[in-house]
Order: sequence, then C-alpha cells, then structure tokens
Amino acid sequence: MRTILVTGGAGFIGSHLVRYLLQQPGVRVVNLDALTYAGELQRLSELEGEPRYVFVHGRIEDEELVAQVCRRYEVEGIINCAAQTHVDRSILRADAFVETNVRGTYALLQVARQQRLRRFLQLSTDEVYGEASEGFRYAEDSPLQPSSPYAATKAAADHLVSAFVRTYGVPAFIVRSCNVYGPYQFPEKLIPMSICNALCDEPIPLYGDGLQRREWLYVEDLCRALWLLYERAEPGRVYNVSSQEERSNLEVVQAILQLLGKPQELIRPVPDRPGHDRRYAMESQRVAALGWRAEVPFAEGLQRTVRWYIEHRPWWERLRAAEYAQYRRQWYEGYLHSGQR
Ligand code: DAU
Repeated sequence: MRTILVTGGAGFIGSHLVRYLLQQPGVRVVNLDALTYAGELQRLSELEGEPRYVFVHGRIEDEELVAQVCRRYEVEGIINCAAQTHVDRSILRADAFVETNVRGTYALLQVARQQRLRRFLQLSTDEVYGEASEGFRYAEDSPLQPSSPYAATKAAADHLVSAFVRTYGVPAFIVRSCNVYGPYQFPEKLIPMSICNALCDEPIPLYGDGLQRREWLYVEDLCRALWLLYERAEPGRVYNVSSQEERSNLEVVQAILQLLGKPQELIRPVPDRPGHDRRYAMESQRVAALGWRAEVPFAEGLQRTVRWYIEHRPWWERLRAAEYAQYRRQWYEGYLHSGQR
C-alpha cells in the first residue's frame, strides 16, 4: 500500500483529488486540513468508514504535526493543495496567505527533506506569471510577475520549492493550473457565485468591463493531470496545466444565466478590483507530452456544474449564511465601492 499525504483535502480541488486517488488501486490517502472557512468535510462524507482514507485536522504550518503524520502513516509523498486561494480576500488582508501559502509550504518542504519523501507536488497557479498580453501564452520557463498579494505568496512558495530541489535535492515539482471549476466549489468564486446569486434572483457583480479573460478547466481534468504528474513528473520541473478554453468573465456569466433561464439584467457592473490582470493564458506542452489533455469541454462542464448547484442547494445555502455573508458585505458593499486603495 502506498500512502500519499494530500493537504487541503477538505477544500474544493483537494476533495476531488482525494476521491480520485482512492480510485487508484493500492493507494491510501491521508488528508491533512485545517478546516478554515473554505474547508468542508461534507465534501467527502461518502468516505466515512473507508479503510484507505484517514483524516487529520491540522495546519500545514505545524511542521511537528506534519512530521508526525508522515512518520505514523509512512507517507511516501505529498500533494500540497492547502492554500488560501481567494484573490479578493488577499486584497483586503494577506496575513493568512503569507502564513499558509508561504510558511506552510516551507514546513511541508522541511518534512519532505528530513524524511526523504519520494515525491512532492506543489499545486500552483497561472497567476504567478501575471497578466498575459493578447495572443501570448506563458510557457513553463516564463518569468514570474505576480500582481495580487495572493499570487505573490504562491510565487514565493514556488521559489521555495525550486530552492529545496536545488539545495537539498528534494524531489519536488510544481504544477501551475488555470482557473478550475466544478461541483463543491466555494460560492465566493465567479462560477459558483454567479450560479448561486442567479438561483436566488440576486444581482451578479462583474468587475470593471467584464472583458477579463481566463482559461477554464473542469476539476476532474485537473485531478487526472495531478495523478499523472505525481507518477511521471521530473523533479525540479514546472508543469503548466491549461484548457485553452478561454472566455471573458462576461461570456461565462451570460452562459450561466442562459442555462438557468434567468434574465441577463441580473449582471451588475461594479468597480474593478485593484491590480486585476486582464488575461491569463498558458501553453501546457510538458503535460501534453505525457499524454494529458483536457477532456471536458467548457459548455459540458458548465452544464454539469449548474445542474450540481441546482441539486445541492442546502450545501451552498448553509455556506452563504455563514462566514461568507460577512465577507460579502465587507468586500462588495464596503471595499469595492469605497474607492479605498
Ligand atoms: O487563475 C487561477 C486562479 O483562479 C487560482 O489561482 C485562484 O486560487 C482562484 O481563486 C482563481 O482566481 P480568480 O480571481 O481568477 O477567480 P474568481 O473565480 O474569483 O474570478 C474569476 C474572474 O472573475 C476574475 O477575473 C475576477 C472576476 N470576478 C470574480 C468575482 C468573485 C468578477 O468579475 N466578480 C466577482 O464577484
């Protein structure tokens, strides 16, 4: 039996990955998660009683705990999905981002180094490259020019990973993904926020002119890439994972409203967020050379996602009534309109 430590396994991407890994024969998963506002064990409720799955409540910054967990369960490698991920929140305050994304990654790398783990996959983001000009796509060796405090902490973590490879020979590698979407995504992100607001007949705030462009990847496609790379990536390398499904935010929201049969008038232009990158786009030739490509077209993935949110209303209604309600007021009704920078 091989044991893999997935950090942030109660989060959106992490929970899909835990489920995906457990479909692989001979794999046991230890899920270490701090259960912050975005971590939700309910995402994995069907795994109760699964003998190849262990949940540990704790923070990745806690090096001693991570070391204990790795020893106790004879962990062979780490997939680091634990992160503070919401760009807008990092604009309000980035303390938690520095703590989890930078200090946390450092603690995990320390354990990987001390216990000579076999693999270390750092999940990163296209945002570390900064804004991509029209017609240009970032390759893996492009320089890092993060724009938001969030992206800066992810870039810092990427640099730590590279330094640990070069200095200590830790067999780590970095996976940079474009925007991911699908079931169980926290309702603060553009796609679930638009679906949930529309289902509640509430306006959908669109930053600036809404013509910022992102590539959208269905979460199961990302999980396939992560597993393939965990098995086959070369230590020290960076792997971009992108879908080439580039859409403007306006197009995405329009498509959601159309699927739901809701009026386009629900779209509400609001002031742009500061430092907002207009476009991200990546080449992902390295993972393609290993046989991966995105399989779920955007139209199909979006349809599946919309259906899922319609069928799981109690799940997101509970989250929207909790901490998120306060954040929404602070961000949308306060900060964005205050002109405060
Ligand atoms: O690019 C990968 C990144 O995608 C990940 O590294 C981040 O962790 C993840 O949060 C996501 O960042 P974004 O800022 O792109 O995600 P979000 O879904 O929040 O926003 C997508 C686009 O929609 C972005 O251009 C901002 C815009 N937007 C978002 C919100 C929440 C709006 O126009 N209005 C909104 O209310």
